[in-house]
Amino acid sequence: MSAAREPIGVIGTGYVGLVTAAGFAELGCEVWCVDIDAAKIERLRRGEVPIYEPGLEQLLERNAERLHFSTEIADALGNARLLFTAVGTPPTYSGDADLSAVHAVADAIPASKDHALVMKSTVPCGTGAALRRIFGEQGKASLAYVSCPEFLKEGSAVDDFLHPDRVVVGDDGDWAGDAVVELYAPLDAPLVRTDVASAEMVKLASNAFLATKISFINEIANVCEETGADVVEVARGMGLDDRIGSKFLQAGIGFGGSCFPKDVDALKQLAGNSGYHFQLLTSVIEVNELQKRRVIGKLHKHLGGLVGKRVALLGLAFKPNTDDMREASSLVLSARLHADGARVVAYDPVAEEQARKLVTGIDFAGSPQEAVTGADAVVLVTEWSELLELDWATLAQAMAGSLVIDGRNALDPHAIRAAGLTYEGIGRR
Ligand SMILES: NC(=O)c1ccc[n+]([C@@H]2O[C@H](COP(=O)([O-])OP(=O)(O)OC[C@H]3O[C@@H](n4cnc5c(N)ncnc54)[C@H](O)[C@@H]3O)[C@@H](O)[C@H]2O)c1
Repeated sequence: MSAAREPIGVIGTGYVGLVTAAGFAELGCEVWCVDIDAAKIERLRRGEVPIYEPGLEQLLERNAERLHFSTEIADALGNARLLFTAVGTPPTYSGDADLSAVHAVADAIPASKDHALVMKSTVPCGTGAALRRIFGEQGKASLAYVSCPEFLKEGSAVDDFLHPDRVVVGDDGDWAGDAVVELYAPLDAPLVRTDVASAEMVKLASNAFLATKISFINEIANVCEETGADVVEVARGMGLDDRIGSKFLQAGIGFGGSCFPKDVDALKQLAGNSGYHFQLLTSVIEVNELQKRRVIGKLHKHLGGLVGKRVALLGLAFKPNTDDMREASSLVLSARLHADGARVVAYDPVAEEQARKLVTGIDFAGSPQEAVTGADAVVLVTEWSELLELDWATLAQAMAGSLVIDGRNALDPHAIRAAGLTYEGIGRR
């Protein structure tokens, strides 16, 4: 790659910021990364990767010479025109997005006709307009603004950066939008160049649609349980229709993570704040909350009361190949089990450290074997590949009971039944 590519700044070195920084460095850019977390910056300077994301460590290592880490935004301002902003936008108590980190970044950028804030964080539609209004009030109207929402998925983020389905750039048709388009050009992805508000809405609507698809198939699964159909067969038959597609049609114990729950809620609140009641999203959220709790009902059905029962949770992260525990279904599940008097033992190959910060009242095991030993029931929570290859004949010997609940419909029911165990999936015959 040419070393003469435009240098960039990346503000916020979390899952999105770090992958974006490493990805653009791979494309030949000098990248000036800034974070307020001094300990994180220190680790990054030492070559340590503070998050688990497949392929990221190698990408950072390969491009170490082009990557610069600092706690000072001045370092990015002094070396780059485009400031890709990837700070967190967590939910507030009202369900609206908390934009305080975004505002802190915007406030820290001085008046300049040579700089642009390029928004990678997921923000409500209207944020770009509001920020530009604030820039005007602060006497820095010449600062350019570009909305460039991020669509990467944790667990495959590096590949998603390098092979995006599309790149969305929302701007006023000025130099900054052109420069962002130019930066992404080597990826040869379909480009949607549009206005700022539409770009912001593409991101929110995409996540809300995917979440809707998950809640839809989960409701179908629940009806399958009442009618004798098997949701895996139903989803296979539906997914082959190319108007529907097979992705996001896997029934399970609901969606979690740092994006879907908050982005769906943020869109619902955004609509509500503008006077429109987004009825469909209210149901999507409610279905998802109930879905997480259905596993408890299944445990009660088979075990009776849960007091004193030992339940093994296999997997804790919100999905495989990440250590991210934000809004993971396991948080609700473990808390409910604990409240019902069960003894919970959990195993996750990567997320234990993060889980320990968020979960109380459960024990952690160092292996699946250790987790299921003496268990009355086992629940597959996260479909890590190592958990899909377990030898159930051996595990059955170690269990005290015989119930296996497949919360992701990812295990082989025949192998589990052949081991003398009772298999129960989500919406499966
Ligand atoms: N994680 C995902 O899969 C994903 C995908 C697409 C979009 N997004 C969106 O991207 C944004 C970032 O998400 P994330 O998961 O990377 O968050 P994260 O919490 O992993 O990282 C955010 C980083 O920003 C830093 N930060 C906060 N305030 C700062 C400031 N004023 N100056 C500099 N750094 C600051 C934090 O210390 C942290 O390192 C969010 O809006 C999220 O919704 C996330």
